[in-house]
Amino acid sequence: MIILGIETSCDETAASVVSDGSKILSSVVSSQAEIHSPYGGVVPELASRKHMEAIVPVVRKAISSAGIETKQIEAIAVTQGPGLIGSLLVGFSFAKAYAFALNIPWTGVNHLQGHIHSVFLEPDPPPFPFISLLVSGGHTGIYYVSSHTGMELMGQTRDDAAGEAFDKVSKMLGLGYPGGSIIGKLAEKGDPTKINFPRAYIDKSGFDFSFSGLKTSVSRFIQTNYNRYKEIIPDIAAGFQESVVDVLSYKLLYAASLKKCEHISIVGGVAANGRLREKAEKDACASGFKLHVPSVALCGDNAAMIASVGYHSIINGGIQDLDQDVFSRVI
Ligand code: KG4
Ligand code: ZN
Repeated sequence: MIILGIETSCDETAASVVSDGSKILSSVVSSQAEIHSPYGGVVPELASRKHMEAIVPVVRKAISSAGIETKQIEAIAVTQGPGLIGSLLVGFSFAKAYAFALNIPWTGVNHLQGHIHSVFLEPDPPPFPFISLLVSGGHTGIYYVSSHTGMELMGQTRDDAAGEAFDKVSKMLGLGYPGGSIIGKLAEKGDPTKINFPRAYIDKSGFDFSFSGLKTSVSRFIQTNYNRYKEIIPDIAAGFQESVVDVLSYKLLYAASLKKCEHISIVGGVAANGRLREKAEKDACASGFKLHVPSVALCGDNAAMIASVGYHSIINGGIQDLDQDVFSRVI
């Protein structure tokens, strides 16, 4: 089944053509990062306007680079939420209208399920059940994944998401947006043992996260070392990153051992972080777990992951009516 996926939940306009929920025929992602960069974060009103400009060319490009004709699309999957309402509405309204015009089924997709599905677009996907650590700009949580539709949330952040913490620390250091990749690159040049920031395990036997205390520690460190902090930015970045990575890797492996799952995955924008990939792989190997991480292009927001969820939803009868609406949060 050939599915057109559409994703506009935040600041990426994305469209993708995927065959049978796993084979990517095309994946086009148009990022607005440059537009939001001067503001240090996503400006919702600007984001929705840019989605409106980009949606038609991005969908056209996804269809042409897949080498198919429009009439070959059998269904449409589109992000329904969570995300920015104005941004979601652009993709969602477009998808409904396009499915209606083409007279094909369509389905709304949960963005978080999309990230969890990104590993099914890679060779050698994990068998069920497995544990998935979802780390993005808006969410951080650990899921027990028992099927394509069965996902149990074991724990999540009580305050900032991991990616949000990267973004905020980057802003504090005057490094710009989006902060994750900037901090990740700078950290490679720093020494993670020079500054020992706290590890926020909260409860070592639980799966909730908190990153706001760590963020405050970095801010305090900058204040108390105001005269010299600019000279040691790579060490600050490396120390902060190591604190986040330690907690994420520990909780992921603890969840896997508790649930007796051999297979684990890390997904979402922060899964692109080199140090997180390296540490989790090392820890997983040492404890006999098999780690699955999508290629970097599939860690950030994309529409192929949305098409993958849509495929499994549609073959199980999850076709939707035109009266459906978007949602900003998971209730
Ligand atoms: O999944 P995503 O593209 O969008 C959301 O659903 O939120 O994740 C974006 C987040 C941003 O906070 C960004 O700073 C972070 O992922 N990120 C990274 C890296 N690349 C992107 N964080 C750490 N290291 C990276 N290399
Ligand atoms: Zn995302």
